[in-house]
Amino acid sequence: MKAPTERLRVFFALWPPAPVASRLAGLGAAACPAGARRMRPETLHLTLAFVGDIDTTRLAALMEAGDRIQWPAFDLLIDRVCRWTHNHIIWAGVSETPPVLESLADGLYVALRERGIELPERPFKPHITLARKSDDFIPPTAPVSVPWSVDGGVLVASERTHEGAHYRVIRQWPGIQVP
Ligand code: 2AM
Repeated sequence: MKAPTERLRVFFALWPPAPVASRLAGLGAAACPAGARRMRPETLHLTLAFVGDIDTTRLAALMEAGDRIQWPAFDLLIDRVCRWTHNHIIWAGVSETPPVLESLADGLYVALRERGIELPERPFKPHITLARKSDDFIPPTAPVSVPWSVDGGVLVASERTHEGAHYRVIRQWPGIQVP
């Protein structure tokens, strides 16, 4: 009988450096009414491609897809905080998705598909979840402006702990300056 294989829940993301994460967490603190489940600053991220549960034997293909694309270094300005009513998430994001970010997500999607890893086809809605299970939302009273010098990206495993999700970086790709 074949030995059972291990499974992992994985995704590709942009991970903010600590000072940016701390400012994003501040946005979350200001936007959350009592009772919302705020994300811890060290867990804040922007998902590029959610792969989901995979057999660990597929990890090599994921790394290869990550190696295949060019990871950019670019400036991203987080300039909005909103709440989605359909899933009760408070999130931070951008008013307009910069083409470099759109191309990065597209490139990853294609590189994964070429390796037999199909992602659900849905529009890329770049966002950083600040809080979950929030029935309400306190809109910002001043313009939102958190500059983030993005420098490459990561492949992350999501593991459940008693504190909520714990994210483990499996692999990191440095960014290359884009003109
Ligand atoms: P969310 O914060 O909007 O829920 C780890 O769970 C990361 O993957 C989170 O950023 C989460 O987005 C995203 N994610 C979880 N399930 C997903 C799905 N089915 N499709 C797209 N992204 C998902």
